[in-house]
Amino acid sequence: MDYPLNEEMLDNLLADPGSDLIEMMKRLPGDIMILGINGKMGLTMGRLAVNAIRTAGCSKQVIGVSRFSDPEGRRKLEEWGIRTIACDLLDRNAVVELPQVPNVIFMAGRKFGTDGAEDLTWAMNVLAPAYVGEHFKESRIVAFSTGCVYPLTSAETGGCTEAVTPEPVGDYSQSCLGRERIFSYCSRTYGTRVLLFRLNYAIDLRYGVLHDIAEQVWNNRPVNNTVGHFNVIWQGDANRYALRALEYAGSPAVPLNITGPETIPVEYIAEKFGELMERPVSYTGTPGDKCYLNNAAKAFSLFGYPRMSLEKMIEMQAEWFKNGGRSLGKPTHFEVNNGKF
Ligand SMILES: NC(=O)c1ccc[n+]([C@@H]2O[C@H](COP(=O)([O-])OP(=O)(O)OC[C@H]3O[C@@H](n4cnc5c(N)ncnc54)[C@H](OP(=O)(O)O)[C@@H]3O)[C@@H](O)[C@H]2O)c1
Repeated sequence: MDYPLNEEMLDNLLADPGSDLIEMMKRLPGDIMILGINGKMGLTMGRLAVNAIRTAGCSKQVIGVSRFSDPEGRRKLEEWGIRTIACDLLDRNAVVELPQVPNVIFMAGRKFGTDGAEDLTWAMNVLAPAYVGEHFKESRIVAFSTGCVYPLTSAETGGCTEAVTPEPVGDYSQSCLGRERIFSYCSRTYGTRVLLFRLNYAIDLRYGVLHDIAEQVWNNRPVNNTVGHFNVIWQGDANRYALRALEYAGSPAVPLNITGPETIPVEYIAEKFGELMERPVSYTGTPGDKCYLNNAAKAFSLFGYPRMSLEKMIEMQAEWFKNGGRSLGKPTHFEVNNGKF
């Protein structure tokens, strides 16, 4: 099996468009703007979109908007053929200057650091969507959200479907529901086509739940199994689904769960890493039965199953550590089950 051995190989893998995305680019009218592009998912999504457009042979532009706190991201995006615009989405006067485009992916948000600065999180997750929803009322909008808007549940349920009423725990999750409500309000008021993209744990090899468990095993630290189960999806699949979701945005706003098909026990993953990395595995924490779990059956019926399997993700992650692959140093804190981030 081929494993990505360096970041260039990993970025290439993440930006490999499937035939479904290429076909969609041929159908989709107009340019695509990604708001909050300069993050873990956005950079690779921008490149994926450009690759799909080029292979489709169409002339669409991809525009990436962020503050570009890290200028390296902007440099890469420009190199890949993405037009960049620096904008603070909390600056209403700057948002109204953004060019109109038919397709918008909203992925700016704030999670970590919420505890103690709750007002900032609410501003970023609710006020910025209000400015964006108002300005882009004529566009289709895929608004990133999270599975954390649902109540915590047990593994036996198979995860929350879109039919479960949101019941978010803590300020971060509540503000994410606030973001959804604002986009839903815009959809109701202006007829804006909106899709609420309720994502649970995208990963690439530099960050994510698998990375965090693998890092604990690799460094002979006990694995935290406070939250006993989780869902995970390869970032390349999550990004592909997000772009494809543009075609499913509607009014009223459409909620859609996005994650992988498995409800995965933490201990199963830890033991697999123990075998692959030849390390003993130990645990810390008091296992509870309540977790953030999503059921993404509806997304699979629309887009098909993810192209990347769980087993392959586990093997690639183990190899990444064994080969000294880089970590972003951004832990997911998937072990949190009290809503405090
Ligand atoms: N990754 C996951 O597994 C996961 C799971 C559930 C939900 N989500 C949500 O999905 C979205 C994308 O995830 P991600 O992991 O790529 O997030 P991320 O790494 O935090 O990236 C989001 C980017 O948005 C930009 N941004 C933040 N505030 C902004 C502002 N005021 N104006 C303009 N841009 C701003 C930031 O770049 P600049 O500093 O350059 O502006 C940031 O890097 C996030 O909203 C996240 O909460 C992710």
